[in-house]
Amino acid sequence: MTDSLTVRDNRTGVEYEVPITDGAIRASEFGKIRTDEDEPGLAVYDPGFTNTASCRSSITYIDGDKGILEYRGYPIEQLAEQSTFLEVAYLLIHGSLPTKAEYDAWEHEITFHTFVHENIKSFMQGFRYDAHPMGMLMASVGALSTFYPDASNIADADIRNLQIVRMIAKMPTLGAWAYRHAQGKPYIYPDNDLSYTGNFLSMLFKMSETKYAGDERIVKALDTLLILHADHEQNCSANAVRSVGSSQVDPYSAVAAGVGALYGPLHGGANEAVLKMLKRIGSKENIPAFIEGVKAGDERLMGFGHRVYKNYDPRAKLIKKACDDVFEVTGVNPLLEIAQELEKIALEDEYFVKRKLYPNVDFYSGLIYEALEFPPEMFTVLFAIGRTPGWLAQWLELVQDKEQKIARPKQIYTGERRLDFVPAAQRWA
Ligand code: CMC
Repeated sequence: MTDSLTVRDNRTGVEYEVPITDGAIRASEFGKIRTDEDEPGLAVYDPGFTNTASCRSSITYIDGDKGILEYRGYPIEQLAEQSTFLEVAYLLIHGSLPTKAEYDAWEHEITFHTFVHENIKSFMQGFRYDAHPMGMLMASVGALSTFYPDASNIADADIRNLQIVRMIAKMPTLGAWAYRHAQGKPYIYPDNDLSYTGNFLSMLFKMSETKYAGDERIVKALDTLLILHADHEQNCSANAVRSVGSSQVDPYSAVAAGVGALYGPLHGGANEAVLKMLKRIGSKENIPAFIEGVKAGDERLMGFGHRVYKNYDPRAKLIKKACDDVFEVTGVNPLLEIAQELEKIALEDEYFVKRKLYPNVDFYSGLIYEALEFPPEMFTVLFAIGRTPGWLAQWLELVQDKEQKIARPKQIYTGERRLDFVPAAQRWA
């Protein structure tokens, strides 16, 4: 068997041999197919990149049909159960699990970079009282590039590593302060005696007590949620980070683009949208009418469906399990009943079955976040904090990949050509 594709251009009768490597062909090979030397070569049209690989990557493996997710080869189920978010972050960034000494150094570095410049605080205080925390996070992580101008030297491995540590360390500080801002509460400084997730909870919820100690079961559940969100290969926000990063801008600016992409309701914003949807449905009796509306195309069942998973999202399974642990501490979220009933009906309904629409990571996570007393606007911020090591691992891979170029897709131009401009004074006369 030859690993190649024979393409015959029926316009010219010419045949082309296109090599196949790793189950893919290079789109540039099609650029050689042309009817005339002066004509542009054949382009590949793929809105939303549904069948286009943009990179080679060794970070995250997904088999959407089988519902498999692995970070650097390790199954998500094992990592969620037995690892910690900081260890997973190390794994994603460095490619292998840390030794004891490596982990201790990593934890120490991250812990001692959690503080931000005081000017960041005054900058954040300038937002309106009702500013969405994702807007605040996007702006403040982008603003970090002005505090660390050295970050623009992306060719230096030590400088790159320093920005990675800074960003993983500071994202919880920025996210927590965005939350406190909306609450009109004072911003809480990091407590470096606490774990990564324990400190995040302290910055969110501490009031007048000298030390904030979160319930260990809650700390563990939130840490697990961060692990589940840590990377998901070439999703919309990773693609945004890579696309912006391909201009060789500093990593803060690239990650700010990722935060912007995640904000949207079809991506990370879906967890917030799920909760609002469940509240709108209100009770089990209203579910059939809601489902009919979805099937009629009036709206989407948020938290369902995925570009890659055509099976149960493995993260959704693990989150469902985490729900039990959290509800043991907080009491059951009454919306759980509606969510479970919605899932049951949707999984049996032909519309959803035929389209292979299953619950995704966002379907149950909002219920946990709400039980932890996060307002819906904060849900996507939690996702962003979890996703930061993934974005940075993708960025690091990009800047070290010699095959990568500035991202610049083609277009198929459908507009007018060569119109004669008539000045306004004449047109309006
Ligand atoms: N509710 C109802 N119908 C749906 C849904 C849904 N949630 N998702 C897809 N469909 C239908 C869609 O209308 C289309 O039907 P038809 O073939 O009749 O036109 C078919 O299923 C295929 O959908 P698509 O929009 O072509 O699929 P896509 O791969 O472009 O979109 C998606 C993937 C995640 C954007 C989409 O499933 C969706 O909008 N889901 C709801 C939002 C959501 O939960 N997003 C979170 C995704 S997971 C975490 C993350 O990435 O942040």
